[in-house]
Amino acid sequence: MTVTRLLVTGGAGFIGSNFVHHVLGHTDHDVVVLDALTYAGNRASLEGLPQDRLQFVHGDITDADLVDRLVGECDAVVHYAAESHNDNSLDNPRPFLDTNIIGTYTLLEAARRHGTRFHHISTDEVYGDLELDDPERFTEQTPYNPSSPYSSTKAGSDLLVRAWVRSFGVRATISNCSNNYGPYQHVEKFIPRQVTNVLRGIRPKLYGAGENVRDWIHADDHSSAVLAVLDRGVIGETYLIGADGERNNKDVVELILTTMGRPADAYDHVTDRAGHDLRYAIDSTRLRTELGWTPQFQDFEAGLAATVDWYREHEAWWAPAKDATEAFYASKGQ
Ligand code: NAD
Ligand code: DAU
Repeated sequence: MTVTRLLVTGGAGFIGSNFVHHVLGHTDHDVVVLDALTYAGNRASLEGLPQDRLQFVHGDITDADLVDRLVGECDAVVHYAAESHNDNSLDNPRPFLDTNIIGTYTLLEAARRHGTRFHHISTDEVYGDLELDDPERFTEQTPYNPSSPYSSTKAGSDLLVRAWVRSFGVRATISNCSNNYGPYQHVEKFIPRQVTNVLRGIRPKLYGAGENVRDWIHADDHSSAVLAVLDRGVIGETYLIGADGERNNKDVVELILTTMGRPADAYDHVTDRAGHDLRYAIDSTRLRTELGWTPQFQDFEAGLAATVDWYREHEAWWAPAKDATEAFYASKGQ
């Protein structure tokens, strides 16, 4: 499709800001970011970008008047804004309902009124989890079976998008991606938490035995996949995004430690997450064969080393959030 002006919700967050960097670097689209700058949003993540092609709007996706105006001024919406952290959703689910459900509903209603193309960013967590030895991975046909308040609100938001396509003819697509890593990720998340712990002289913290498997993809590969769906995806369809990056948490924490020149066993086991999903794994055949997408970051060790370097060089970006994040985890025994 022809896009000239893209509305990116949540563009000051981790994956949204990576997407804005990618779009401004690889296309000639202009970008409008709508972001509420919650604890997870950071304007510094958008520094250094061409200001004549980027407009930042500080606002909430549940603000129907604001959303209606911005959606009406853009050719397409890419909807990243969400409450995104499972541990927070176990502590206080309410903001997840407000943003992930009501916020998505508010955007869909605006897209419906204006006939605007809509792409919804979602997660593989809507499918629940897999056994470690399950030969099947998640596909577009896997039934929904979310475990946490976070993943159930993302599942609800996906179903709203499907209903708005079928009942109201909204021109929407959905993508469900696996675990992202890369620059600009909040220190509450697994990889940045452990990297910044090591930088601060704190031992990394592994939930339970660390056997849980996540399917890692670099955020820049997520961005190129979203552009492929926006450009060539079939309206009403869902595309799974993943880069064959399955690793268990114990291996990842040990890799972080050795990458940073520390002994591989210099970490602590802490209280496990309630309802902790065991394994996620994405089969991205559809995206690769139908839309011709290929990930560029195929070497996790190299991508992780570059991410470690980024956190080493950007302490001013992450330090303001570090103490409060660790105080939250300490209060949970994590
Ligand atoms: P994040 O928490 O880093 O960023 C979320 C952004 O949304 C922040 O900038 C925040 O200020 C903004 N926001 C929150 N509530 C808002 C509201 N009511 N109105 C406007 N802005 C609001 O999240 P992330 O990890 O970048 O995830 C982005 C999206 O990608 C989410 O939809 C998430 O479900 C999805 N996703 C994440 C991953 C992952 O590995 N992190 C994987 C697959 C899908
Ligand atoms: O799969 C996609 C999802 O990936 C996204 O939808 C979510 O928004 C994103 O946060 C992420 O969810 P996870 O719960 O998998 O990510 P998190 O970084 O919180 O944890 C990754 C794994 O590491 C998980 O098994 C829990 C574990 N963990 C996490 C932290 C913060 C630890 O062992 N120690 C920790 O300190």
